Formats: sequence, structure tokens, C-alpha cells
Amino acid sequence: MRETVRFLLGDEPVEIASCDPTRTVLDWLRLDRHRTGTKEGCAEGDCGACTIVVGRLDGDRLRYEAINACIRFLPTLDGCHVLTVEHLKASDGALHPVQQAMVDCHGSQCGFCTPGFVMSLFALWLNERAPSVQRIEDALAGNLCRCTGYEPIIAAAQRMDAAEREQDRFVAAMPATIARLKSLADGETLSIGDGERHFYAPATVDALAELVSTHPQATLVAGATDVGLWVTKGMRRLDPVISLGRIDELRGISDEGDHLRFGAMANQIAVREALATISPQLDEMMRRFGGEQVRNAGTIGGNIANGSPIGDLPPALIALGATLVLRKGSERRELPLEAFFLDYRKQDRQPGEFVEAVLVPKLPAGALFHISKISKRFDEDISAVCGAFYLELDEAGRIREARLAYGGMAGIPKRAKAAEAALLGHSWNEATIATAIAALAQDFTPLTDMRASATYRLKVAGNLLRRFLIETTTPDTATRVAGLLAEAAHG
Ligand SMILES: Cc1cc2nc3c(=O)[nH]c(=O)nc-3n(C[C@H](O)[C@H](O)[C@H](O)COP(=O)(O)OP(=O)(O)OC[C@H]3O[C@@H](n4cnc5c(N)ncnc54)[C@H](O)[C@@H]3O)c2cc1C
Ligand code: FES
Ligand code: FES
Repeated sequence: MRETVRFLLGDEPVEIASCDPTRTVLDWLRLDRHRTGTKEGCAEGDCGACTIVVGRLDGDRLRYEAINACIRFLPTLDGCHVLTVEHLKASDGALHPVQQAMVDCHGSQCGFCTPGFVMSLFALWLNERAPSVQRIEDALAGNLCRCTGYEPIIAAAQRMDAAEREQDRFVAAMPATIARLKSLADGETLSIGDGERHFYAPATVDALAELVSTHPQATLVAGATDVGLWVTKGMRRLDPVISLGRIDELRGISDEGDHLRFGAMANQIAVREALATISPQLDEMMRRFGGEQVRNAGTIGGNIANGSPIGDLPPALIALGATLVLRKGSERRELPLEAFFLDYRKQDRQPGEFVEAVLVPKLPAGALFHISKISKRFDEDISAVCGAFYLELDEAGRIREARLAYGGMAGIPKRAKAAEAALLGHSWNEATIATAIAALAQDFTPLTDMRASATYRLKVAGNLLRRFLIETTTPDTATRVAGLLAEAAHG
């Protein structure tokens, strides 16, 4: 075991021998290192004021990602390259091309949000050439500007691409940075504490399995986009903490023929890319999953294991017929994802067990699939209702298999079994859908909360089914909708 956390802060090697397991990177930067360019706005991953860029090794590549420092725990930086807004200005005082573009386009509006915007743009600039406006908006969806001055910032994002990337000092330094990070990657389990509480970060799945068996009550941390808030908002003192962040084996996504296999640590960016090959609607739904910083950190395993009734992936994966692979020591068991959710925040996970992988079937030829996420705000908002539907029809056009899964309708992500029964054996048409919509009232007694009323939820759940019917039975739906919108626009 290694007992120090090691990472690079810009060019500077950092080694920490004693550390509160849930100290946030933001607090460490601001309070210990006096790097106050990184701001605290919400302390819950929503506003982006705390955005920093973190590089991690991905095989022989260095992958830079924008993340929220406010909900990232300091020891999880082990083996990473950390860049804050202070690093961008050169030692001779010259602004980085990303900063210069912000100045030139009048994108620098207030000192509170600007550093976060700059760091999100810096990550985009490092990773992508000539991003579209849509892509720029996606990359900035996790940065809130309270004065609503997004236009000059988007203009800056378009301008910055002209800068000479190859000559950039961060790009030029990448081979040396990769070599330095490789020298830190020793394969040892990291074990560190502050005398009171303890943190572990194994480097292999086998070491994780052993640690979780030894400490069955430990809090597992993947991307910390949920767990971070337990600390910053819930003031919880977690002990011990086991981080899965160093285990590259758990990040992989592979094509296994009739299904995709997702390692539990695959982040939402990679999950989106893979699910897009199954359905473009999954791509669109994942585009609206948190902001870019949350998607960089948050994982498929965390989204399932947290057992949230309003998580976006469980309904989609249940409708697709996904299987969960759970591991305890050297034993593995598989269970249908829907069986994992027992009751509100209660899952079929034994002490010492963890989620190792998720197996997601591809759509067979002719199968119909739909997913809709309904939230109050389009970007970076949690669902009020999420509906995901899968249908198979027989040669006569009758429904022979149906999986209708909803989030936000019960204490767990849940299938609508009565509505499914109303569909089976019937033709896929308006009369059938009307019966299925009526049956939803037997399946669900939704809650009224700040996101939506019970009446609204039930109404929307039915309307989503009808949307699925219209979409799959009217080939020219898109043309019709465009026509209706054009008509409406002309009064
Ligand atoms: C600003 C913001 C926006 C968000 N938007 C969305 C959204 O649009 N849609 C949505 O669904 N969610 C959203 N979330 C919630 C969160 O990002 C997701 O649930 C995310 O997928 C959690 O993954 P994680 O890796 O960060 O999990 P963590 O926070 O690390 O862990 C979550 C839970 O899972 C457990 N866990 C993690 N990995 C494993 C494992 N392999 N085995 C067993 N247990 C494990 C942890 O112990 C913990 O109980 C948002 C969160 C924030 C802060
Ligand atoms: S402070 Fe708002 S996202 Fe971190
Ligand atoms: S840039 Fe800070 S409020 Fe708009």
C-alpha cells in the first residue's frame, strides 16, 4: 500500500501524507493553496464557478476533462494532472488564446463565473476542433451566467479555435506530462487518512473486491456527483471511503455482439457515445444529463447504484432489458436491472458487493424504442418524469413483447406492468394505447413534489406513450410537426 497522494498541480509535483478523505479539491485549492481564481458558487455541481481541468491517463493518451472542484474529493486526484485558471496565463503575463478570445469578444463579464467559463472553454479547445454552436452550448451547459450574457461567450468559443493549438505550451508539454503521470501509476492501493477517517483507492478490480469485503460498510465513491453532495450539503462524515476512480479496468465499454458491456466506471460522456449507437434518442437524453462537468465525472455504475427514483439511465436500461453484474470477493452474480431496485433507496446489493458491469442488449431488428426526459429546465436539470419504452410486434402487427419503464413515477425506477398487459396481443394503435394509458393509474400513485404534481406526472406518463405511438406509426411525423409549427408562426 502507498500512503501518500501524488499528483501534478500544473508543473508542480504534489505529495500529501495526511488528508481528510472527503476534503474537496475546491477547499484545498482556495484555503490551502490560496488559488482563489477557482470560485465557490453552489457547492453542488450546478453552477460551474469551480470548474478546473483534470488530465488523466487513458492508456497511452492523456485525457483532459472539465470537472467541478466543489464535489471532487482531494485524494481522488491521485495520478492526475490538475490545471486551474491561474495556470492559463503564461509566466510573461501573456493571456492564453482562450482567455484572449474571451477578452476580444467581451465574454468576460463578472469575476465570479468567468474563471469557470474559461476552464470549460479551455477543455473544449484542448479536445475538439471547430465545435458547432450546439456543441459549444453543450460544453457550457454546466456553467451558469447569472447576467445571461451567453452570446459573447459563445462568440469567444468560436473565435478561440483560430488559435495555433500545436504551438500551445500545454499541448507541447503533453508527452512529458504523460511520462510524469506514468511514473506515478504504481499499481499500489492508495491508503491515506487524517488520523480520524480513512480513504482507500485500489488500482485493480481484484484489490477493490478484497477491500470492499474487508470494509463492507465503506462508502464507495465513483464520480462523487451524488456522494459529493452528501458531504457539501448533507454535512456527512463518511468513513471509510473507497474510491473506484483509479481502476481503469472498470472504465471500459465493449461490443459483445448482441449487447454492449459497460464497466461500472464508464463515465456519462462515454456511455452517451455508446448508447447513441442503439438509439439517437438515447444520445439526446444523455446530452441533457447534468452538465459537461457532471457527465465527465458521473458514471453508469453510480447512476444505478444510487437507487434514485429519478435517475435517467435506469428507465432507459430497464426498457432495453439490461443485466447488472454484481461482484463480491471473487463471486459474481447477474440479475435483471429492474430486480435491483427493491424499494425507495433500497437495492439488492449485499454488504461487500459492488456493481462491476452493466450488460445492455442492442435493439433487435424491427423492435421499437422511445425515451423522453421531461424536466422543468431543458439543460442540466433532473427529470420530473422519464419514460422509456420497448416494443416488439409479431408478423400480424400485434404486440408480443412490451417493456414500459418510468422514472419519477414511484419510489424506484419501475415497469408499468398493468399498462404492458393492456398492450400484449393487441395491435399498436390508438385504441390500444388508450387502454394502456388508463392502466397507468393502476401502476402508479406518483408523488407531488417541487418538480411536478401527481396529476401532471400521470398525465405526462400517458402522453409520452401516445408520443411513442405517433412517432412510430406516422412516418412523416417530423414533417407534420414542422408544418404545424410553421403554420402557428404565421398566425
Ligand atoms: C448538477 C448535477 C446534475 C445532475 N443531473 C443528473 C441528470 O440529469 N440525470 C441523472 O440521472 N442524474 C443526474 N445527477 C446525479 C448524478 O450525477 C448521477 O446519478 C451520476 O450518475 C452518479 O454517478 P457517480 O459516479 O458520480 O456516483 P457517486 O456519487 O460516486 O455514487 C453514487 C452512489 O452509488 C454508489 N456507487 C457508485 N459506484 C458504485 C459501484 N460500482 N458499485 C456499488 N455502488 C456504487 C455510491 O456508494 C453512492 O451510493 C446530477 C448531479 C448533479 C450534481
Ligand atoms: S461551486 Fe457551483 S458547481 Fe461547484
Ligand atoms: S458572467 Fe457572471 S453573472 Fe454573467
